[in-house]
Amino acid sequence: TTTPVNVTVTGAAGQIGYGLLFRIASGQLLGPDVPLRLRLLEIPPALKAAEGTAMELDDCAFGLLRGIDITDDPRVAFDGTNIALLVGARPRTAGMERGDLLSANGGIFKPQGEAINAVAADDVRVLVVGNPANTNALIAASHAPDVPRDRFTAMMRLDHNRAISQLAKKTGAAVGDIRRMTVWGNHSASQYPDLVHAEVGGENAAELVGDQAWIENEFIPTVAKRGAAIIEARGASSAASAGSAAIDHVHDWVNGTPEGDWVSVGMVSDGSYGVPEGLIAGFPAMSKNGAWQIVQGLEIDEFSRARIDASVAELVGERDAVKELGLI
Ligand code: NAI
Repeated sequence: TTTPVNVTVTGAAGQIGYGLLFRIASGQLLGPDVPLRLRLLEIPPALKAAEGTAMELDDCAFGLLRGIDITDDPRVAFDGTNIALLVGARPRTAGMERGDLLSANGGIFKPQGEAINAVAADDVRVLVVGNPANTNALIAASHAPDVPRDRFTAMMRLDHNRAISQLAKKTGAAVGDIRRMTVWGNHSASQYPDLVHAEVGGENAAELVGDQAWIENEFIPTVAKRGAAIIEARGASSAASAGSAAIDHVHDWVNGTPEGDWVSVGMVSDGSYGVPEGLIAGFPAMSKNGAWQIVQGLEIDEFSRARIDASVAELVGERDAVKELGLI
């Protein structure tokens, strides 16, 4: 018998948690043969709702699910954890300044980073979903000095999947024929979904589309503002698609990306592509032997350079702000 993998989900009683947990427990996160235990972290007012979700998980009688623990203590939630999905975050409310948002989230991600450092398994892998995801990941990582930095990632995969879907619609291709998509920079409106390196059925995507005005005025803004469009249409924010992207991210991290393809990952910069070292930014990345590696050697044209620089500048601003607040 295999030892179950410990999977921790924070914000488990939230919208994303509600969709995500069932997909994890059904085997879509790690694979159909991998038993797991779930650890749900919530704040006290949401513990009861988390218990309700756990009751429903029980009622699915998932064969792989070996137990569910619910707690409001990060030290319990991350004890021996192998995979940590940090979904719970403090949303921006009306009138909130960037500094207020960053310090409220620092109050969440600093203690969670410390707890991961203290009690998680040696092979822990962390995906931060809660916004501002890249900077929250930076905060958590900086309080986990004993965990290799590349184990802390931020979710760019929803942006990546949105970009694939928009390109498939435009070209009439199947999503499965699209490869080498990259969303660079911050998970925010400044992100840069890149068609210069993407391929449709082996052909260069930008050349196939052959319409720079569409790329600049339709494609990029549609992908970057998709979250707002979902809220407008659904009356609630992206939840099932965000959970699906989190599943894709961790699945590929653990099981590897297909040969010759890559995905978009918010990961620590080693200085590649002029992104300041240490920043957590969206990069093209391949997973091999359970580790993400930034795809090297892509040529960056002038248009892409300006877009990447603008998004990275926003991340530098967030990093400087959390430094000033004493959060990193
Ligand atoms: P939600 O508000 O429905 O759920 C958040 C949950 O987190 C709540 O149940 C809350 O009680 C819990 N929570 C708050 N502080 C916590 C703490 N310290 N420890 C544990 N749990 C805590 O929000 P939803 O829709 O589930 O979204 C969660 C986050 O994901 C938001 O920050 C959202 O902006 C972000 N998001 C990120 C995306 C990405 O692509 N990176 C895409 C979509 C959403």
